[in-house]
Amino acid sequence: MDAKATNQEEIARLTERVRQLLKEKNAVMLAHNYQPPEIQDAADMCGDSLELSIKASKTGAQVIVFAGVHFMAETASILSPQKTVILPRENAGCPMADMIDPQALAKRKEELPGVPVVTYVNSPAAVKALTDVCCTSANVVKVINSIEGSEVLMAPDKNLAMFASRQSDKKIHIWEGCCPYHDALTPQDILAAKEKYPNAVVMAHPECRPEVIDMADAALSTSGMLAYPDSSDAEVFIVGTEVGILHPLKKRHPNKIFVPASEKLLCQDMKRITLLDVISSLENMTGVVKVPEEIRIPALSAVEKMTQYVN
Ligand code: 13P
Ligand code: SF4
Repeated sequence: MDAKATNQEEIARLTERVRQLLKEKNAVMLAHNYQPPEIQDAADMCGDSLELSIKASKTGAQVIVFAGVHFMAETASILSPQKTVILPRENAGCPMADMIDPQALAKRKEELPGVPVVTYVNSPAAVKALTDVCCTSANVVKVINSIEGSEVLMAPDKNLAMFASRQSDKKIHIWEGCCPYHDALTPQDILAAKEKYPNAVVMAHPECRPEVIDMADAALSTSGMLAYPDSSDAEVFIVGTEVGILHPLKKRHPNKIFVPASEKLLCQDMKRITLLDVISSLENMTGVVKVPEEIRIPALSAVEKMTQYVN
């Protein structure tokens, strides 16, 4: 028997155990579109940050296993305080979310009195607590344009803020944060990919730099990217986001070809959780993420508003 077949058998065995435990514990497993293939395949639902937040707020299950990164589990805890939210690997964080903290945001707010704050969901719960409305890449433009007044402070992703500012008349004050992986994608990377695949369509995530987005045919959240090939005649797509998305893209569009815009688009944190971690955290009910009430209550309205702006 070859190594691949053995590996597939092992994945099938572990997946069965995950599914059995989810049933036993009255749990639901949510996975972000960047998670490893076997994690996405074992989950009840995969999606982008907005879809997963909505799903987490609506599930009837008592336990939510969040296969993603820490801020996603925190968001689920903010929306569902009565449920047990589990992040199977404690150290699955988000470098962009670490580029802001409540003290720094409070200081910036003092410098911009009365200016509403829109915070990308990729941020710590304590930052959300100081926020007027949260947003994701799927609804950022709607959220920004829903804000009263002519100025907005947007944190922590400078690229997402620039993306929104190009589609809004508001003056947007930018925070100097970014996703290190998306921000590393350059126009030269896109040119190199286009040279290899001249007829390909380019999709880029709004976390990419403006000069990269300018070269793309579409700037989309991860779920936007999953749907986009349905309305395109193109056969080949250059994918300007984290490489985990290639798995659901290939599954949903088996007759199309998807190539990463760069090998640099590999988020270490999104690859931490394994099936064994999911099993162990469910067996022992470990990895619980609970946002304390003094942070959760002020963060709740900003997160709830975000879930109302869907496409
Ligand atoms: P979306 O799936 O919401 O597009 O988010 C991308 C992301 O960076 C999550 O970490
Ligand atoms: Fe954070 Fe970027 Fe990783 Fe998403 S891909 S979790 S924004 S570091």
